[in-house]
Amino acid sequence: MNFLVIGSGAREHIMAEKLTEVGAKVYSVLTNLNPGLIQLSKYYILVSGYTSQNNLNKIIDFGLSKSIDCVVIGPEDPLANGLADKFWKKGISVVGPVKQLAQIETSKGFTRDLLNNYGIDASPRFRRFNAIGGSSDFIDELSEEYVIKFDGLMGGKGVKVSGEHLKDKNEGLRYCGDLLKNSGNYVIEEKLYGEEFSLMSFCDGNTLSHMPAVQDHKRAYEGDIGPNTGGMGSYSDSNHSLPFLNDNEIATARDINEQVASALLKHTGSEYKGILYGGFMATKDGVKLIEYNARFGDPEAMNLLSLLDTDFASVCSDIVNGCLSSVNFRKEASVCKYIVPEGYGSNPNPDATLIIDDRYNEFSNLYYAAVNMEASGEISTTSSRAGAMVSTSSTIELAEEKCEQGLEYVSGNNLFVRHDIAKSHLIEKRMKNMEEIR
Ligand code: AMP
Ligand code: GLY
Repeated sequence: MNFLVIGSGAREHIMAEKLTEVGAKVYSVLTNLNPGLIQLSKYYILVSGYTSQNNLNKIIDFGLSKSIDCVVIGPEDPLANGLADKFWKKGISVVGPVKQLAQIETSKGFTRDLLNNYGIDASPRFRRFNAIGGSSDFIDELSEEYVIKFDGLMGGKGVKVSGEHLKDKNEGLRYCGDLLKNSGNYVIEEKLYGEEFSLMSFCDGNTLSHMPAVQDHKRAYEGDIGPNTGGMGSYSDSNHSLPFLNDNEIATARDINEQVASALLKHTGSEYKGILYGGFMATKDGVKLIEYNARFGDPEAMNLLSLLDTDFASVCSDIVNGCLSSVNFRKEASVCKYIVPEGYGSNPNPDATLIIDDRYNEFSNLYYAAVNMEASGEISTTSSRAGAMVSTSSTIELAEEKCEQGLEYVSGNNLFVRHDIAKSHLIEKRMKNMEEIR
């Protein structure tokens, strides 16, 4: 089969690897010259982004010219701009929902309303705003324990939390004002306390197959402080749960994904074909929904695809053909740590360099992200994440050690890694936190 992979981060690099491993041909659409994808692709095109109709049409023409059987969309932007709709119209199948269904990610307000309207009890108290009026009163109603969310795509960086990013109500209201100025609607919701986890499910429109739970680390710095980022690293456990979760919490998250997929079908009449990503928090009042994404998580894709024990090309064709059955994952732990330019998340250093010594591969796999392969063979960084080091082993502790051993072969200037990810002390802190909360 001929696959077209859209996107040029570490998530797409591993998707292309899993597809080529089982004999599929991969073509790709890149926004940066990712060396891993370039090596794996039969052909690629480079586009400046996924917003202009011109670029979308260029991608469709490329797909038609290469007799693509199935398109796999990695990032949210092409989903938000209806690339899946356009391919289906040309008779080409797509893993990744059509625009209307991608609202599950592109509008936090849409998602909160969907849950309410279909009686899915997983939201904190919330209210949607398209003007400042009422914001101050609602913040008071939440006893100043609140979160403000831009109601659109902002690369994981549009959310600000009281007491962390917003030190008082005035700062909160100022942020609301800034969002309005940028023509943004926003949602204010109750601040929840607990531990976050991602539970993703493959979905063929009617049937879901759940993946192991993963914990991402969105905050830029060690100890879970600093600005929200696209994700600094993640881990999963050999039992497919996480050390701080109980069986009931996993079952609830799976059930919420199932209810949401069915609500989406009822609400829109269209089948959601792709990956449904629930971002959850285990709280004292049970599992709550933080957000949905309409795609594979990044970094979570690196954990899960590293453990995948079913042919990825078949999983994709089962999704588009509506005949998904169970998808298997090895019973091992996985750890992924991102190498990013210093200051990533707020003020990334433009002069970071990335040098890789291939001996890392005795311990880990490396997936390239937002970097460019220069004509000289050097790899230049951008303002976003540079590469993901990923290891698997029988326990989280062993996988973490291997990941760190792999990272020893990465050098360069002005780079940063959150080394605390998946370390025992951080995991124990989370387990203790959940014991106290429960
Ligand atoms: P989101 O983009 O909605 O996933 O939000 C980014 C991050 O903000 C999440 O990973 C949480 O750490 C935090 N966050 C979002 N919503 C809430 C909430 N209601 N309570 C506490 N923290 C939240
Ligand atoms: N792991 C966060 C995201 O993919 O948005």
